[in-house]
Amino acid sequence: MTGVLSDDAGHGSGESYFWHPMGHPAETQTKPPLTIASAEDVHITDSSGRRLLDATSGQLSVVTLGYSATEIKKAIAAQLDVLPYHTAFRGYTNQPAEELSRILIEDWFAPEGMARVFFSSGGGDAVETAMRLSRQYWKIQGARDRYKFIALRNGYHGTHFGGASLNSKAAVRRNYEPLLAGVYHIPTPWTYRNPFDEEDPIRLGELCARMLEEEIIFQGADTIAAFVAEPVTSAGGLVVPPSNFWPLVREICTKHGVLLIADEVITAFGRTGYECGSRAWNVKPDLMTVAKAITSGYFPLGATLINRRVAEAFESSRDSVGTIGHGYTYSGHPVGCAAALAASRIARRQRVWENARERGTELLIGLERLHQKHSIIGDVRGKGLMVRIDLVHDRKTKTPLDPATTARIYEVITAEGVMVRASESSIGLSPALIVERSHIEQIVDAIDQGLSRV
Ligand SMILES: Cc1ncc(COP(=O)(O)O)c(C=O)c1O
Repeated sequence: MTGVLSDDAGHGSGESYFWHPMGHPAETQTKPPLTIASAEDVHITDSSGRRLLDATSGQLSVVTLGYSATEIKKAIAAQLDVLPYHTAFRGYTNQPAEELSRILIEDWFAPEGMARVFFSSGGGDAVETAMRLSRQYWKIQGARDRYKFIALRNGYHGTHFGGASLNSKAAVRRNYEPLLAGVYHIPTPWTYRNPFDEEDPIRLGELCARMLEEEIIFQGADTIAAFVAEPVTSAGGLVVPPSNFWPLVREICTKHGVLLIADEVITAFGRTGYECGSRAWNVKPDLMTVAKAITSGYFPLGATLINRRVAEAFESSRDSVGTIGHGYTYSGHPVGCAAALAASRIARRQRVWENARERGTELLIGLERLHQKHSIIGDVRGKGLMVRIDLVHDRKTKTPLDPATTARIYEVITAEGVMVRASESSIGLSPALIVERSHIEQIVDAIDQGLSRV
């Protein structure tokens, strides 16, 4: 018997041979996961036939264009007929990868000053690429000591050893230590919880930026390769930084020659209400990482974007230090790139970032209303269509709600027909960027019900 069989509630039953990411294998055997059977538009259906409005884009902020993007499906099928795979390692290329590179640079990220693209299979791969290329950049420059990285304490950058070393969460670090040497962390400018007890956003932005500069000076600027952060942190606790933080970070990195890597695996292609998160803060990074929305999740694909400063160093290098000894079998996968070309056409035609901004504002207004109504809500925050509610036992002490109560709230919200992302004491929302106002109302109503019935 295998876990593909499902009980009446859509949960798998019987022994499963499948170990799930981010879960305990023992728990999977005793508490079978929900089997998602099918999906259309912005709804998913489990194997018991229950249909839910997906307020999470596949739980991980991936399916930005909904589940029924026929144009992407057709592009994938057509590309499979023409060329399902060939390597894009040195000496080979393919038309979809060339075309997608041009579109990413010219149509999407020209304002950020991006000049070159390096493809991968997902977000963690893209982060790994950015870290490795930034170290190599400094070796090309003859600054061989510049190998360290600085990141935010609430960041999340995937689970490769490089990305995991940048991460904050013990759950993705402790069991895998020792991690990469030479990675340091500074506090995140999060007004709700920060080590300075500072609630004024601008002042907090200054303090955290100052921590970055102090860390650079403490380590020695000539030892730091790059500062890596998400424009809006996501999996490590959604933090929308104050408006001054990213501009200050750019200034400090420039002053000390440190590369700035914007991890846009979630924020690129419209999630924050802008075409990318860096644009929301009006900042030009040196490298950017993108994935997820690049194909709306229809095919695994990631990319690292490289600005002219970094690209020129590599392209003007005439010895082996400039040779990229890094890459993935599926870098520049023709089917993934064809999927991304179709996703890009849809996103640009519909200007999905504008819908994200408008619907995101409606969502925040609705949740702010619930904040007034339910004392169990400690904080509500978000940018565009990435939103989070922190639940607390006590607003004054900010003691996080216990996981069992959060789970009960989640059950009620699900019973109301809405799929949210619940963690121990929070509810995360990241619906598709094509949601309509009526969907937002349904999400807010379901959460209201969930909070009313605890
Ligand atoms: C900002 C960020 N970077 C990197 C990753 C890792 O991406 P992947 O899971 O595709 O390796 C994630 C995944 O959620 C992410 O949110």
